[in-house]
Amino acid sequence: MSLGKPALVEAIRAEINAAGAIPFERFMEQALYHPEYGYYVERRSPHIGRYGDFYTNVSVSGLFGQLMGQQFEQMWEVLGCPDDFRIVEQGANDGRFAADVLRWMREWNPELWARTQYWILEPIVAARQVQEATLQAAGCGEKVVWSEGLDGLAAGSMTGVFFSNELVDSFPVHLIIYRRDSWKELYVEWAGDGFRLVDGDFSSGELAAAVAVLPLHRVQRYTTEVNLRARRWIRQAANLFRAGFILTVDYGYDAENYYNAKRIDGTLLCYHEHRKSANALIRIGEQDITAHVDFSALACSGEEAGLAVVGFTDQHHFMVGLAQDDLATFEASGQAADPHFRDTVRAFKTLMHPELMGSSFKFLVQAKGLEALPALDGLRFARNAVL
Ligand SMILES: C[S@@+](CC[C@H](N)C(=O)[O-])C[C@H]1O[C@@H](n2cnc3c(N)ncnc32)[C@H](O)[C@@H]1O
Repeated sequence: MSLGKPALVEAIRAEINAAGAIPFERFMEQALYHPEYGYYVERRSPHIGRYGDFYTNVSVSGLFGQLMGQQFEQMWEVLGCPDDFRIVEQGANDGRFAADVLRWMREWNPELWARTQYWILEPIVAARQVQEATLQAAGCGEKVVWSEGLDGLAAGSMTGVFFSNELVDSFPVHLIIYRRDSWKELYVEWAGDGFRLVDGDFSSGELAAAVAVLPLHRVQRYTTEVNLRARRWIRQAANLFRAGFILTVDYGYDAENYYNAKRIDGTLLCYHEHRKSANALIRIGEQDITAHVDFSALACSGEEAGLAVVGFTDQHHFMVGLAQDDLATFEASGQAADPHFRDTVRAFKTLMHPELMGSSFKFLVQAKGLEALPALDGLRFARNAVL
């Protein structure tokens, strides 16, 4: 079994030698985002799609971007059709989603297209180059502005939508364990021939404070994750807005379900060539590492920064809400035998099917600066959710 990219293993080992065991969160940061060798930084081949390690909504079909384009259009209308509508996407990977949304806008709503500026937040140079090529090829390059991250954007300046798909699950998380009647943090140390986890005190007061209010079960050896970066991120994203929406798509649960007494091993998972494993200490830099998202934490931290929850539902319900008018039009038009229609329906079923992507992915919509919370198409079948 490969320990991982030798140069990355050596870099982490050197850090541990110098400073002692590191929080798992730091290990995950290095494994995914080390500036030279991190999984998402050094691109040998695509990470996502059939020849990569996993599929995402975006890689299944352009349909996902087209449907989100419809939702963005409605959000633009709710905001009063502003001239300076901005869509910000973070975690844009190869730029496909941006291209799908912008192409849809150009074809179906030229007025919205004319008034939209699309921002991609991308700190990784190689990823940005791939995004630029994708958007140029789609004829949308002049619509897009890049920034390394949220720090570069002026607070209170934006009217529009902040979108991410599977961004938050890729933020490095702290691991915690209940052992000998108290909560501890898990650290990574070098064991001579590989890395291993050891427990210790919390590495920060911020983590201790977060753990103190989680609905945790005191089950011996219960292990789970705390994503402090997600909380900081939503507060920072909220600060960008004069008015608008944050639409976060990812797999996850509300806190009650996330920290369920039966989920004793947490949600940390690794993906390599479409195979799952729970061992993050191998294939370092060669496999993705992810943890599900605690949407209650996003809702709660967002509220502190002035965001109201507009709705929370699963992908199945969001997709049906968005697409139901289109499907009825398609069926009435008698195009069912058309191969393009068949491909679209197949993609739609993959995105919606409860055993594929329909029930694990969730949509959280938060808003700031609106007088009343709007009834969005994607939320028309959402059950009332308490986060
Ligand atoms: C699981 S991939 C999802 C990619 C894409 N959204 C999709 O659905 O196909 C996660 C992406 O988030 C990016 N990412 C993680 N942290 C980021 C950050 N702070 N700023 C920008 N991108 C980030 C990673 O580089 C990676 O491209």
